[in-house]
Amino acid sequence: MKRRNFLRRAGAGSALLLGGMPALSLSSPARTAVSPAPSEEGAPDVELALYAFPSKQSFLPGSPTRTMTFRAEILKGDPKHLSTLGSCFFGPTLRFRRGERVRIHFHNRLEKPTIIHWHGLHIPEAADGHPRYAIDPGETYVYDFGVDNRAGSYWYHTHPHGRTGEEVNHGLCGLLLITDDEEDALPLPRGPYDLPIVLQDRAFDADNQLILGEFGMGDCMLVNGAFEKRFSVSSRPYRLRLMNLSNDRFFKLGWNDGRPLTVIGSGGGLLERPIEKPFVMLGPAERVDVWADFSADAVGTELEMLSLPFLTGPATTFSNRLWVAHLEGFLELVEQVEAGEELPAWNGFPLFKLGVDREERVDLALPERLCTIPRIPATEAINHDHPKSFRFAVDETEDGLVFGINGRMFEMTATAPDEVVRLNTTEIWELSSPGFHTAHIHGLQFQILERTLVADADEATLRDWETVKEGFIDEGWHDTVAMFPGTRTRVIMRFEDHTGLYLYHCHNLHHEDAGMMRNYRVIA
Ligand code: C2O
Ligand code: CU
Ligand code: CU
Repeated sequence: MKRRNFLRRAGAGSALLLGGMPALSLSSPARTAVSPAPSEEGAPDVELALYAFPSKQSFLPGSPTRTMTFRAEILKGDPKHLSTLGSCFFGPTLRFRRGERVRIHFHNRLEKPTIIHWHGLHIPEAADGHPRYAIDPGETYVYDFGVDNRAGSYWYHTHPHGRTGEEVNHGLCGLLLITDDEEDALPLPRGPYDLPIVLQDRAFDADNQLILGEFGMGDCMLVNGAFEKRFSVSSRPYRLRLMNLSNDRFFKLGWNDGRPLTVIGSGGGLLERPIEKPFVMLGPAERVDVWADFSADAVGTELEMLSLPFLTGPATTFSNRLWVAHLEGFLELVEQVEAGEELPAWNGFPLFKLGVDREERVDLALPERLCTIPRIPATEAINHDHPKSFRFAVDETEDGLVFGINGRMFEMTATAPDEVVRLNTTEIWELSSPGFHTAHIHGLQFQILERTLVADADEATLRDWETVKEGFIDEGWHDTVAMFPGTRTRVIMRFEDHTGLYLYHCHNLHHEDAGMMRNYRVIA
């Protein structure tokens, strides 16, 4: 494969071929009141202050690493709404219950304008954290919303225009976990047996500072904000919330001893029933909940969660972190392959260790059925005969590379005619990509109708597809879907409750920041 083709397949090339940020057409947002009017629906059940500020942390011997950090404070409500993952790199974990009213005072103590987005939440426009709401250093933005999502593993991160990747890379993200009655009624592992596991690759320069590697990827792993993470568990079932909060990295998750993964939840909460997978593909911003039962493991058992190699030929380097963060090594390898040399045998790379350290017997069986998820019938969509199609791609044009959706780049408040939808209707969108991209839609959860290869997929694409196709979780609800070269994914969604301007974009953050992001508008 030609290098250029390879780079295009990798959906990449920004740092290579593009000198800095492309010019975006920006209309300046109407800077109305910094705080939206307080909700008319009464006093909040939970009120908190969230601060973002520059910070430092010692990750490696030598200079401390400059980071950006969130700190939270409960102003009203139960302190159990806040917890931590044990690392100050990562923002505090916010815990809400469906039906609660939340007010959050966000204080920007950083050096540049920013705003927080609540990833996956179904909330009003003014609470969604669109970059046009970015506040200047020293300002405060007040979010007011009702928690109206199913129980599940959501998250939050800043969303300033063009700098989301940099800020998330420096630590400006955190978990937002929601519970509800439906989940409470199930016999699931809870408390210390319910483990959020945040996977993030990172790259550091020689002075220990965080950088964005080639393709936005890193060459080392942080798990819950720590290097070489090991979880100490008991011989009993656990719920592992595996969250890929990397900027641009795709994982093929699998246990080192080949045991399957029992998936019980997706980004939008529990699935109807558990499904067993040999491995799970997880793109940036995607989450998956796994029931992991260590009852049959002797005390002393050590397991490793790996990111298994995927793709074929030189493209397999894309699935190995060590080669992608450093362009020279990567290109050297591509050259070796082009010269007909053998590739090294890849075995994947470890993400974290998990050791069964204690004996514990509990009577907890995996439920056969978790909940009921009514499928949205395709015929309910007003466009079911002619789904809208959105192609996420890096296109070479006369004016240089365009990181776009249907060739259109981000404009702060503009929408094209096909980006306007009507409240209380259902639509099907067909998402496609010639490379690796991750489609995320703000403000709602969608269902996946089908995922297929394009009809004219070439041989390399077919071979690559074989290495990933068993790993997709297309059941349940999603706000983000990872797309692989040559695939088309049809998603169906309802536009309910809120009108206004929301985003949809590639969640590979270096693509999003370069313009692979658009608005859609819900009109009454
Ligand atoms: Cu996590 Cu606009 O996204
Ligand atoms: Cu989002
Ligand atoms: Cu992309």
